[in-house]
Amino acid sequence: MAIKKIGVLTSGGDAPGMNAAIRGVVRAGFNHKVEIAGIFRGYSGLLNDEIKVLSHRSVSNIMDRGGTVLKTSRCPEFLTHEGQKRAVEILHRNSIDAVVVIGGDGSYRGALALSRDWKIPCVGLPGTIDNDLNGTDRTIGSDTALETALGAIDKIKDTVNSMERIFIVEVMGRNCGYLALRAALAGGAEQVLIPEVKYELSDVCQEITEGYIRGKASWIIILAEGAGNAVDLAEKISDLTDLETRVVVLGHIQRGGIPTAEDRILGGRLGAAAVDLLVKGESGKAIGVMCDKINMVPLDVACQPYKFDYSADLKLIKTLT
Ligand code: ADP
Ligand code: F6P
Repeated sequence: MAIKKIGVLTSGGDAPGMNAAIRGVVRAGFNHKVEIAGIFRGYSGLLNDEIKVLSHRSVSNIMDRGGTVLKTSRCPEFLTHEGQKRAVEILHRNSIDAVVVIGGDGSYRGALALSRDWKIPCVGLPGTIDNDLNGTDRTIGSDTALETALGAIDKIKDTVNSMERIFIVEVMGRNCGYLALRAALAGGAEQVLIPEVKYELSDVCQEITEGYIRGKASWIIILAEGAGNAVDLAEKISDLTDLETRVVVLGHIQRGGIPTAEDRILGGRLGAAAVDLLVKGESGKAIGVMCDKINMVPLDVACQPYKFDYSADLKLIKTLT
């Protein structure tokens, strides 16, 4: 069946660069003479029939903006058979033949359900700051989030060095340590704690004490949000080392801001690739980049628990401290 109309939605946590991906989908659709319909507010908007055709001009001047012009949401109703059935009815009613889903692993599971169980051709684009999806070296938004975290760490360093304290900086990433590890490496942090690698509090404190004996007067620990509670950790470290600690939780500022060049380029490339592949008859695939080349894996592979060997980078942080 020839694809005449493609829906595009953003879902789950917003990520800088999603707008470039939306623009890529719309402009590639224009080139293929395929109509593109924007589905607003992710799967929630789909269930509420919040759908509008996007013209070539409707995506002008959006790629330098953070967030997503289509808005996004988390939608528990879409997890149910009834919810999905209604979503499919709404897609048919709007004559939408295929869907591009831009989001994280949860959003990919939704796209997998649509393509596998309901036979709606779907492709997924990796839109999440967490960089926790298989089949792509990078996800749209992770580069900007890293720069934002790094900018904050650089500022925190000024006060850390001036007042000679221990700082724990909590970085987002859900169950993935990627952002924390990269931010720690780039920010010259003394330690990083990530969910993928078990740590003992006594070892953390011993390293701090040894650092102070070597003449270090301040210490930054980057804590991935999935690796513990920053406030609890700070209290325990203070008790065990008798050193003053402070906590900064970077939180949602990491999701905002002007997308970096990398995220804009990635979004645009993947948006255009999504339309090319749907038009060629692909479905059930997640599109990403590996070694700077477009790469495709089945959606169920893309959202399997992300595993990465962090050992060399963790060793490097110890070497450089
Ligand atoms: P992200 O896509 O950023 O990982 P979520 O995990 O919150 O964010 O998922 C976004 C949405 O995707 C959910 O609110 C839900 O509507 C849909 N979704 C998640 N898991 C599934 C699933 N197993 N089946 C169908 N839809 C799902
Ligand atoms: O998946 C992106 C992300 O920002 C995670 O890093 C974080 O754990 C989560 O979303 C926060 O979700 P919410 O915006 O719903 O609080």
